[in-house]
Amino acid sequence: MWILKSSIGRKLIMSVSGLFLILFLLFHMSMNIVAVFSTDAYDMVCEFLGVNWYALVGTLVLAAGFFVHIIYATILTLQNQKARGNQAYAYTDAPKEVKWASKNMFVLGLIVVGFLALHLYHFWYKMMYAELAGGATASGADLIKELFASPVFSGLYLVWFAAIWFHLTHGFWSAFQTIGFSNKIWLSRLKVIANVFSTIIFLGFALVTVYFYMMSL
Ligand code: HEM
Repeated sequence: MWILKSSIGRKLIMSVSGLFLILFLLFHMSMNIVAVFSTDAYDMVCEFLGVNWYALVGTLVLAAGFFVHIIYATILTLQNQKARGNQAYAYTDAPKEVKWASKNMFVLGLIVVGFLALHLYHFWYKMMYAELAGGATASGADLIKELFASPVFSGLYLVWFAAIWFHLTHGFWSAFQTIGFSNKIWLSRLKVIANVFSTIIFLGFALVTVYFYMMSL
């Protein structure tokens, strides 16, 4: 099938799965902000997303989204490296900050996934997995309070959000370019929207971390 075999087909899969993950990030960031206003309301949201068929289907679809995105990122990176050969470090005149994120998308992705594994241990394992295994579930709000009372974990999470910021500043506009927004005017607009959107995502997640760290002092 062309979509699986051709370079543009593979890029399309990367873009669509990336945009899906971006929607998840927006939802997850909005949901977390609830904790700043009311920890009880946050626990109600977590309970709603606990072990029931729609949350489990959501988790599986999300896991599939991550899986496809990572597999195709690996395939495309290897393919590009092979195609570039010893031209891998050829100079381009793209703006510096864009060039840095775009050249480091795979490494940034690896950093994001590495922290995600730690994050899933901190929350998913203690909440959803515990419930699936028939044990007592922890309260999402209590886990947040406990985790972000630690300056080390708060700092690590902020580094994670910064890696996501860099990854999104390139991934966002690049995904739209792949699906067809490729004319010059739209491309420069999309780059601005990408920076604004990535910064909103960064600030939303960081707000929760910094707020609970400050509350613990
Ligand atoms: C302040 C930052 C964050 C907090 C407080 C937080 C909190 C949580 C909590 C409480 C859960 C468990 C929800 C449940 O199972 O009901 C969860 C799950 C999850 N989080 Fe986060 N999160 C944060 C940042 C992130 C980021 C940046 C990502 C992605 C890069 C992420 C990805 C996930 C994933 C994939 C799950 C599993 C979702 C599922 O079970 O379907 N989280 N998070």
